[in-house]
Amino acid sequence: MRATTGWRADGRAATLRQVTLERRDLRPDDLAVRVDYCGVCHTDLHSLRDGERSASVVPGHEFTGEVTEAGPEVTRFAVGDKVAVGNIVDSCGVCAMCEAGQENFCHEFPTLTYGGTDRHDGSTTLGGYSREYVVRERFAHPLPTGLDPAATAPLLCAGITVWEPLHSLGVGPGTRVAVAGLGGLGHLAVKFAVALGAVTTVISRSADKAGDARRLGAHDLVVSTDPEQMAAARDRFDVIIDTIAVPHDLGPYLRLVAMDGTLSHVGHLGQVTVEMFDLLAGRKKLSSAGSGGLPATAAMLDFCARHGITADIELVASKRVNEALDRLQRNDVRYRFVLDLSDLGG
Ligand SMILES: NC(=O)c1ccc[n+]([C@@H]2O[C@H](COP(=O)([O-])OP(=O)(O)OC[C@H]3O[C@@H](n4cnc5c(N)ncnc54)[C@H](OP(=O)(O)O)[C@@H]3O)[C@@H](O)[C@H]2O)c1
Ligand SMILES: [Zn+2]
Ligand SMILES: [Zn+2]
Repeated sequence: MRATTGWRADGRAATLRQVTLERRDLRPDDLAVRVDYCGVCHTDLHSLRDGERSASVVPGHEFTGEVTEAGPEVTRFAVGDKVAVGNIVDSCGVCAMCEAGQENFCHEFPTLTYGGTDRHDGSTTLGGYSREYVVRERFAHPLPTGLDPAATAPLLCAGITVWEPLHSLGVGPGTRVAVAGLGGLGHLAVKFAVALGAVTTVISRSADKAGDARRLGAHDLVVSTDPEQMAAARDRFDVIIDTIAVPHDLGPYLRLVAMDGTLSHVGHLGQVTVEMFDLLAGRKKLSSAGSGGLPATAAMLDFCARHGITADIELVASKRVNEALDRLQRNDVRYRFVLDLSDLGG
């Protein structure tokens, strides 16, 4: 095993402490990556602070860094290469989903970057709030040149999670897209939709983010707490990407979907109750998505490089991670915290 330093919440604790961590020795197709920047996803907050947790957790599943060592069978990377890693780090490789390049839907369940179970040794994976990560090369992506490495990190979870549904739903020039919840996922969904040529609207709880929405390229903002605005937006959108981080009634959002359109609910995951009439009236579709397959992730990174798209970030030293999580919980970030892990040394 090899030692590194990272941020861990022990047992039921919600606070992260700096600790020494162990990484596995490299397998033949592994890379050791010095983690430079790791985004703070709302999922990290859910895993630290929502519900019961008995096991320790090292969060972090969207990071960029540099290869420091490569196993003997590694072919795509060399020491010194810049890489990006997202929220899945392995899959079975042979099921129909893996064959189709949708490793995120692997029938054996993909190995999550943290809190997952390693397919070889059964250990629990430890995330990117850490100075080093050991990853199978297949699940590392070349960092696109020309993009800021810190602001690229959030593309690997927040970005790909909204990219796949936008892409698979055929969003393009003229598609009427709405993005519900303007946070980490939401602001990237707006940038992507705008760059794809969609007529893009933000649905937010207040008008506070209207200026930001315009700056991001959105054409309009609908205030979800204003019944008149919601009524006026009835049947207006071909696609709604719902990134809201808390359980909520889908009815008001389904009523904004146009005939034969789709509500893609990618935010807070859990049970939802749907009034079938909200789907019946207009033959509307309810869908979801999460993470992305390797080909789609590569395509998204290529699209971002061509369009100069990265996240709007607030970069903080990793020792401020608990404060960043508190602020994320209060919705006090525009629009993604990224941890600079250089304060961990190495
Ligand atoms: N499907 C997946 O694979 C996947 C991947 C990553 C994340 N997620 C999930 O996606 C959700 C969003 O993640 P994120 O990192 O984008 O979070 P975030 O940055 O906190 O943004 C979430 C947005 O949801 C809205 N919101 C927050 N609290 C709300 C409340 N009480 N009522 C209504 N709206 C509220 C806010 O938008 P406004 O201020 O504009 O209203 C907020 O900006 C999280 O639940 C996360 O776990 C899923
Ligand atoms: Zn995430
Ligand atoms: Zn599989």
